[in-house]
Amino acid sequence: MFQTNDFKKIKNIYLTNLRNKNTSRSDFRQNADLISRIIAQETLTIIETETITIQTPIETTIGLQIKPKIMLIPILRSGMSMLEPFLYYFKNASIGVIGLKRDEKTAIAHLYYQNIPKINKSEIVIILDPMIATGGTGLATLKILMQLGATEENIIFASIINSTEGINAIKAEFPKITILQAGIDNKLNNNKFIVPGLGDFGDRYYGTE
Ligand code: URA
Repeated sequence: MFQTNDFKKIKNIYLTNLRNKNTSRSDFRQNADLISRIIAQETLTIIETETITIQTPIETTIGLQIKPKIMLIPILRSGMSMLEPFLYYFKNASIGVIGLKRDEKTAIAHLYYQNIPKINKSEIVIILDPMIATGGTGLATLKILMQLGATEENIIFASIINSTEGINAIKAEFPKITILQAGIDNKLNNNKFIVPGLGDFGDRYYGTE
C-alpha cells in the first residue's frame, strides 16, 4: 500500500535539478516554477482559515477559505520567478515590489526601488526571494516592512535554498517570522555564494551568465 508523505522528497527532486549545472535554462525555469508552487502550497497550510457555509448544487455544506488578507513581496529580480507560482494559490493577493541589489564585492544590499501598498497589521506578508545567503537583502526588506506597519509574526519568508548563516542572521533580529525553504546549506564561499547552492539564481533564470 502506498502512503502519502510531506513535500520533502518532491522538493528534493526539483532542488537537485536546480543545483545541477547541466540543467538547461528552460529546465531551470520549469523546476524553479515547480518548487515555488510546492512552497506556495506549504505556505497555504500554515495560513489561518475560516469556515464558511456554501451551497453545492445538492445542498448546503461547510467549507474552508483563507482568512487574512495576503500581500506578496517579490524582491527584484530573482524573487519575480516566485511571483506567478504564488499568485496561482493566492489569486487575490496585493503585490509590493522591492528592488535590492547585492554589491558583488561587499555583498551589501542597496535599495533602488520600492513600491508597496498600505500594509494592515493583520495582513500576512509573504516575501519572495529564492536565496538567503548572508541575510543582508532579507534583513533590509524586513526593516522596510516593519517601518511600513507589518507585524513580525505575520511575515513569511518564502525561499528555495538558504544558508544557515543567513537564516541565523535573520532570526537573530526577527525571531518571530516564519522562513520556508526547500533546502539549507551550511557554507558560504568568499563571494558570499551558498555552497553547494545552485550558483547565481538570477543569472541562470534570466540568462545573464
Ligand atoms: N544569490 C544567488 O543567486 N546565489 C547565491 O548563492 C547567493 C545569493
